[in-house]
Amino acid sequence: MVKERLWSEGGLILHPACTFPTSVAPVWQMGLVPLFVDVEPQTYQISPYAVEKAVHLHGARVVGAIIPFLLGNVPNFDFLFAVLTGEHNIPVIFDSCDVIGSWYDDVPAEAYGMAAAYSFYASHHVTTAGAGGAALTSDPAIHDRVRSAIYWGRKFVRTDDPYHDFCQRYTYREVGYDFQMTEIQAAFGLAQLDRLPEQNRRREQVFQNLWIHLAKCQKGEWIELPAEYSNASPSWFGFPVLIREEAPFNREKIVRYLLEHKVEIRPLFAGNILKQRAYRSLPRVECGPFTQADRCAERAFFLPAWAMSEEAEGYMHQVLADFLGGF
Ligand SMILES: Cc1ncc(COP(=O)(O)O)c(C=O)c1O
Repeated sequence: MVKERLWSEGGLILHPACTFPTSVAPVWQMGLVPLFVDVEPQTYQISPYAVEKAVHLHGARVVGAIIPFLLGNVPNFDFLFAVLTGEHNIPVIFDSCDVIGSWYDDVPAEAYGMAAAYSFYASHHVTTAGAGGAALTSDPAIHDRVRSAIYWGRKFVRTDDPYHDFCQRYTYREVGYDFQMTEIQAAFGLAQLDRLPEQNRRREQVFQNLWIHLAKCQKGEWIELPAEYSNASPSWFGFPVLIREEAPFNREKIVRYLLEHKVEIRPLFAGNILKQRAYRSLPRVECGPFTQADRCAERAFFLPAWAMSEEAEGYMHQVLADFLGGF
């Protein structure tokens, strides 16, 4: 879609090394090349310092950026957009799959980009019965291209003439996909939307309670707690933690304990994707170092922070307190 409009083949697309695989896979699928940079400690978002360095080194070859709101948090937009909208005016697509409801300066975070993608996978803020997604843009040209791609690549022309519509139905403007949502999925998603504000409020509470609980329970600075920018109001998808080098336990020990006590946790997605077997041999440009992405791969994981019951929340707090109390 964007390749035709803005992005020329072989152009570089900025992307963080700590990511979810399908956030970056389309770059290769479109014949473009990812330009990887590191993420920041504690926010887990793309590092604007690393972006600045990458843009400085690669200049006009950088034709775009795909930026995930990893775990629902928001990057430092003030710094990031100063770099992106500078000399090269680099357009951004946000991967907002982890969140609906994060804000920056009182504006929905995804509205800062030219387009955004959402996932309605079962564990996300809104689900359409287990799977599904949506794309968002305020640009009519991008809207038309996305619609065409979803409907087998067929041509859509806005007209009131039914005969014209008849002729266009099996007219294709590109090789497309079939990504239509079913009626049942849409109905499920609409009902979920009604509950979103209430669910997001509870998510926020669960996140804050967990932050305070962990800060109190640990006897040293063993667990690196997540952080957000003062202009940002994220709706976190999960609660990322990183086990510091000086902790008296390692990630394996705490992960095993939590899993044995039925607290379901996940690694920080692909960790450093540059080290994943599937992606190692694909063309890319690296603008390292990737110190933080490596730390995420080796030391981080995320705890649940969904709109759970007080009982479930209390249980998780107790399990964490019991583990940390043993040191
Ligand atoms: C940041 C991010 N991007 C993309 C995805 C993929 O979503 P889906 O499987 O619905 O395509 C996920 C899934 O959890 C994600 O966390």
